Amino acid sequence: MSFPQRRLRRLRRTPALRRLVSEARLSVDDLVAPLFVREGIDEPEPVPSLPGVVQHTRESLVKQARVLAYLDVPAIILFGIPASKDRTGSQAWDPDGIVQVALRDLRDELGHDLVVMADLCLDEYTDHGHCGVLSATGAVDNDATLELYGMVAQAQAEAGASVVAPSGMMDGQVAAIRAALDDAGHSSTAILAYAAKFASALYGPFRHAVQVELPVGDDRKDYQQDPANRREAIAEVRADVEEGADMVMVKPALSYLDVISDARAAVDVPVAAYHVSGEYSMLKAAAERGWIDGEAVALEQMVAIKRAGADFILTYLAREMAESFHAHG
Ligand code: PBG
Repeated sequence: MSFPQRRLRRLRRTPALRRLVSEARLSVDDLVAPLFVREGIDEPEPVPSLPGVVQHTRESLVKQARVLAYLDVPAIILFGIPASKDRTGSQAWDPDGIVQVALRDLRDELGHDLVVMADLCLDEYTDHGHCGVLSATGAVDNDATLELYGMVAQAQAEAGASVVAPSGMMDGQVAAIRAALDDAGHSSTAILAYAAKFASALYGPFRHAVQVELPVGDDRKDYQQDPANRREAIAEVRADVEEGADMVMVKPALSYLDVISDARAAVDVPVAAYHVSGEYSMLKAAAERGWIDGEAVALEQMVAIKRAGADFILTYLAREMAESFHAHG
């Protein structure tokens, strides 16, 4: 009988061997925690469709950020929920808007212990829920929106964000934001571009968290990407890098591992992946029913995202992952 020369099982025999030859590694350094801060509440408000996630008060936000810094999570990304919304989303750039106020709190309390990123978009702030301003016909007006994004970027940088993360998928948004930041003297503020962001049904729980409701029958398919398009995603990634993005993101993560892999190969900047709200909720719901081992599946999913080529992961699992790294070394 003849045997193959290479017996692949040899290197799987012991945990130490498996650790030695592991191709993808997950550590606390890979994690970015998304956090929500809401104007006008006295107590943190749980988000039912995102178990374990809350809308923070200014005080509880700072506390949570301290815990994350203590756990060595390197970064957070902040989303705001204003008390009032309007046609243009003006709370997004108001110096006294909830995100700006919270960014100043974080800067004052934490200094540079954490990288503080700010999601840069208008949907949490507009009364119609779209990511930009509407033209007379009701369509999202690309270029009018770019001007507002520039103002938001300046306000966020002024308030202490060290990274701004435009998520609106307008054409030219990275160039417009870079120019606005540089004009205002914020040339060291970095841009993490939501470069390949798909029109996904997996953002549902997030929209509950930020209280955004699109008019019935409305969607974001004329600015977010078609889930069918892989090459187009890389065109988006390249365009953002050419416009000055310091880092690019693919979102969601697990249904788009091919895009993460392509993005990693196409450009040299760090590639992030966003394990989004629906991905987290599905995991939590199945685990709650005892249908899957939640912790094991979570780890498997994170490692898969790293294996595909992501340099870091935005995930609602950040705190619990960091805690388990601390507990188990
Ligand atoms: C837009 C934004 C969204 C998410 C992050 N930034 C929602 C959307 O595009 O509808 C989704 C994140 C998630 O689902 O976890 N400001």
